[in-house]
Amino acid sequence: MQYPITLGVLGGGQLAKMLASEAYRMGMNISIIENGYNSPAGEMTKSDFGLGWNNREELDKFIDSADLITLENEFIDPDILEYIEQSKPVFPSAKTLRQIQDKFIQKTVFSSAGVAVPEFEKLDTLEDTFLFGEKHGFPYVIKSRKMGYDGYGNATIYNNDDAKEAWDKFKATSNRSDLYAEEFVDFTTELAVMIARNQSGEVEVYPVVETIQRNHICNEVIAPARIPESAKEQAIQFAKKCVETIDGIGIFGIEFFLTNDNQILVNEIAPRPHNTGHYTIEACETSQYENAIRAVANLPLGSSKMIRPGAAMVNLLGTRSGSSAPSEVNELFAMRNVSLHLYHKKDCRVGRKMGHITVLGDSPDEAYSRAMEAFGKFQF
Ligand SMILES: Nc1ncnc2c1ncn2[C@@H]1O[C@H](COP(=O)(O)OP(=O)(O)O)[C@@H](O)[C@H]1O
Ligand SMILES: [Mg+2]
Repeated sequence: MQYPITLGVLGGGQLAKMLASEAYRMGMNISIIENGYNSPAGEMTKSDFGLGWNNREELDKFIDSADLITLENEFIDPDILEYIEQSKPVFPSAKTLRQIQDKFIQKTVFSSAGVAVPEFEKLDTLEDTFLFGEKHGFPYVIKSRKMGYDGYGNATIYNNDDAKEAWDKFKATSNRSDLYAEEFVDFTTELAVMIARNQSGEVEVYPVVETIQRNHICNEVIAPARIPESAKEQAIQFAKKCVETIDGIGIFGIEFFLTNDNQILVNEIAPRPHNTGHYTIEACETSQYENAIRAVANLPLGSSKMIRPGAAMVNLLGTRSGSSAPSEVNELFAMRNVSLHLYHKKDCRVGRKMGHITVLGDSPDEAYSRAMEAFGKFQF
């Protein structure tokens, strides 16, 4: 493949914005397709296709504008990727997406490949959920097979009344109504790994990190994870197995549980740059975004090695409605080794991902405590 002049991105949110920043540094232009103009990435380019990929004419214009296409959002219909594949290279492929977009299929694919995942079962009837509870005990988790993110699509079930309530709630939705159940995992910590893989099959794995979710949203990341080496090795081995099994090309974020008895279980995979990999911008020799571009362009991958012994990231979630401009940053900027990222979203909303802070340090503990200190100095 020739070095791409224009990289097309399906989706225009913060992941596309950070991908675009790296693409520009690497001498490329970007082209964005999204539902709406002036998304965080769309406003960075004149090639801002705001009518979305479900509009065939708009999609065709977008395809024409790009040499190589990737995505920042896995909720695209694989048929659309297949359509793009007829005229331009697009990664990850429709075939890859088909194996992971539905979480029940994803778990089936991974467990058949020998990757450990929580016990899970498809739910076709309400009776199936009651049976799952009888077999596996309470609590357990009902999940939407598709369109789940930031916990939308999950319900923790403590008794059959909860099961009925969750069942009715999900069945009333148009895109989250297909369900499966999962055992509730007693974990000591959640972990994540970013992994890049190019068309030649070259793989680059980033350090295993700890992730802390609050209200089902990843809030903090600590790198590297403070866990035994053997657990790290197991997570890395599973990460490689997962991307190879789905013939994944691009960058992938894989989430894991570390259980109370030191088992590693895969939770889920995202076929794109990932919140848990933001820290790589400052902390690693090559960021997840640069390696995403290298992987889809089939260039040799860059080193994922950390340049400092520790790093931590804290998400900045909206705390109010209104302007997205912060009201207080001076004390934060007065700190050393603290990087502020704001995504330039049009409005601030409570709980919305508005930005993040990354801190490098002499150890994961030190970076984490300074990241929390910096977080305390920031205000919307
Ligand atoms: N089986 C489970 N057992 C315990 N906690 C879970 C389980 N599944 C999900 N969670 C919790 O909910 C969070 C979000 O769930 P996840 O399946 O990753 O959905 P999403 O697609 O919304 O990220 C997880 O990071 C974890 O904290
Ligand atoms: Mg998740």
